[in-house]
Amino acid sequence: MEILKILIGEFNNKEVESYSLRNSKGFGINVLNYGGIITDVLVPDKNGIIENVVMKYKDINVYKENPSYYGALIGRTSGRIADGEVTVNNTTLKLNKNYGVNQGHGGDIGFSKKFLNAKTSANESEAYVEFDYLSPSGEEGYPGNLELKVRYTITEENELKISYRAISDEDTLVNLTNHSYFNLSGNCKDNILNHHLYIDSDFLVELNENSVPTGNIIEIGGTPFDFTNPKTIGRDINEEDYQLEIGQGYDHCWILNSGNDVKMRLYHKDSGRQMDVYTNQNGVVLYTQNFPDEELLDCNKKPNRRDAIAIETQSPPIGRDNVFAKYSLLKKGEEYSKETIYKFSTIK
Ligand code: BGC
Repeated sequence: MEILKILIGEFNNKEVESYSLRNSKGFGINVLNYGGIITDVLVPDKNGIIENVVMKYKDINVYKENPSYYGALIGRTSGRIADGEVTVNNTTLKLNKNYGVNQGHGGDIGFSKKFLNAKTSANESEAYVEFDYLSPSGEEGYPGNLELKVRYTITEENELKISYRAISDEDTLVNLTNHSYFNLSGNCKDNILNHHLYIDSDFLVELNENSVPTGNIIEIGGTPFDFTNPKTIGRDINEEDYQLEIGQGYDHCWILNSGNDVKMRLYHKDSGRQMDVYTNQNGVVLYTQNFPDEELLDCNKKPNRRDAIAIETQSPPIGRDNVFAKYSLLKKGEEYSKETIYKFSTIK
């Protein structure tokens, strides 16, 4: 296992470091000490050709604002909070509305835009970089000093594990995820419409017209949201369906069935690459790049709709009247502990 630290630029007079972790087969990741941003997940295809399977901006400076949150650590909360209002212990927090009428992805300067402290470790079977960050009480409107640790581990079995730990000195809200956009064709050769997807889920969080949860849970058997039998992402994405219309594609939270089995499987036939996702999170937001930004990608083109799928394991976002807020509540002194494993393999 090998770890390299490379200085790749400066944001606000602070050094942006890229940590490159590789196993003996060349599988690995590059991740920044800014926003814990994963810029590369380098995975062999069925012929052993190693390519990047996540969306990456060409110009490193674009990551300072990171308009689509490519690869970023998201916190303190992922997704939208309806009207930027949520009540914790009888106090209504007024969070800034950086996402239209809602708050999104932790506010204006969420974890995706913070410098993090790094430490690394490697042995024969795994290598990791662990980032820590102390989020002061009041940051982006959230109560409690929050101590955060996020560890990115790669293994000899071509797995990427992201584990999140957090502890607060007051009751607060925490709902962390990683916002990588996957495209298994490698270096964005193909879009994701012909990727096959399986999701171990029978229920979807219903959204209102502002894309926040209504509080209802929809049974999805037989609908375009049903991926319990693997199907291509493109098969039903243009079906007439009010929820698809709201998101302009998939941009929803699925409630994951309990158990330790594979929770999602993404497969791209031409490259033979397959990714299995395991997690102890109770939900996943999938977003089919319905509103791509204009920035040039590392593969020398601008992104199009459906070029990639963001797979954001997390708890359901928070709707009006504190809908689902209990899933994001972290009590004083209790430990938040979540883990997601992305395991790569190939099929000939
Ligand atoms: C959200 C989308 C949003 C995207 C980029 C996703 O997590 O669900 O609605 O457009 O992030 O900000």
